[in-house]
Amino acid sequence: SDTEKGTYSHFMLKEIDEQPFVIRNIIQKYQDKDGDIKLDQDIRAALNDADRLYVIAAGTSYHAGLAGKELMEKVAEKPTEVHIASEFLYNEPLLSENPLFIFISQSGETADCRGVLVNVKEKGCRSLTITNVPGSTLTRESDFTLHTYAGPEIAVASTKAYTAQMAVFSILAMDGARAQGINSDFNAISELGLIANAMETLCDQKDRMEQVARDYMSGTRNCFFIGRAMDYHVVQEGALKLKEISYIQAEGFAGGELKHGTIALIEDGTPVVGVTTQQHVNANIRGNIQEVIARGANACIISTEATKEEGDTIVLPNINELLSPLVSVVPLQLISYYAALHRGCDVDKPRNLAKSVTVE
Ligand code: G6P
Repeated sequence: SDTEKGTYSHFMLKEIDEQPFVIRNIIQKYQDKDGDIKLDQDIRAALNDADRLYVIAAGTSYHAGLAGKELMEKVAEKPTEVHIASEFLYNEPLLSENPLFIFISQSGETADCRGVLVNVKEKGCRSLTITNVPGSTLTRESDFTLHTYAGPEIAVASTKAYTAQMAVFSILAMDGARAQGINSDFNAISELGLIANAMETLCDQKDRMEQVARDYMSGTRNCFFIGRAMDYHVVQEGALKLKEISYIQAEGFAGGELKHGTIALIEDGTPVVGVTTQQHVNANIRGNIQEVIARGANACIISTEATKEEGDTIVLPNINELLSPLVSVVPLQLISYYAALHRGCDVDKPRNLAKSVTVE
């Protein structure tokens, strides 16, 4: 059942493995019998009416929001801002005339998000919650809800909820494009089908991922993750996964920003995970990876069939570049899992962390 580990040693590993099924489930739930997207008319209208979207979230859900912004802007041409809930709460930006707030929350209970929702409702703003828990506080208090259908997520470190959130965003973006008559060839439904297959391929490579964790993470104090554009978003999530469960100090950086400070920390043997799935910045991030290698870094390179070069560590199946985090995060999740396991950490219940944070 959903709340039992079965043959798995940890919920986290089980939940990583469930991702292809979750994505296929989302396709089912958001598709009508003609293969078109099925979305509440009121949500479609609210999105259409909004002049700007404000995405509010915390932790891993915030990272899903960063990718979601790209989808909303590039597919649905909606100006979108993403904010950390606890920051927005006490440092509100100037709002547009007709904003729509989108709360992303696995649990639907995060107090920082709720605080923002209470404030913006007072101003008369409309709100949509993307959550894994229908009936949660945020769904009860916001105008609209989109369900991520990921099933219960037990491990404290979020995995399947993150990919499910981005999948739902892709459907919302495609619907938004259609509703505005934007001529886009982005088809979330068919892309998500390909993504589920790619996820499955990666989940079948656990031995390889475990070896990568040994080659790059054993005995290290710190680890850097770099990427550009969409890959910058996913490396932030990769770093969060690693630090949450293995306690290795990890940070995700924009490749081009390294030279402005962080590169000072690279020593002989420092692991640097470089993700490159975006063809238009492949040469740039390759340059950044060379810069860290020249300073002794142990570079782990994750590319795709379209961006690969000889000697890359992990090559992902080809994927739509706008949805690449759904696939590129899978090796990052697995590497973090094995790194934590090798260190004897309590993978499902890391110290100091709670699954849902219902106090400010
Ligand atoms: C906690 C969890 C994180 C999660 C964050 C936001 O910090 O440990 O895994 O990403 O809360 O939770 P939410 O339920 O709002 O997505």
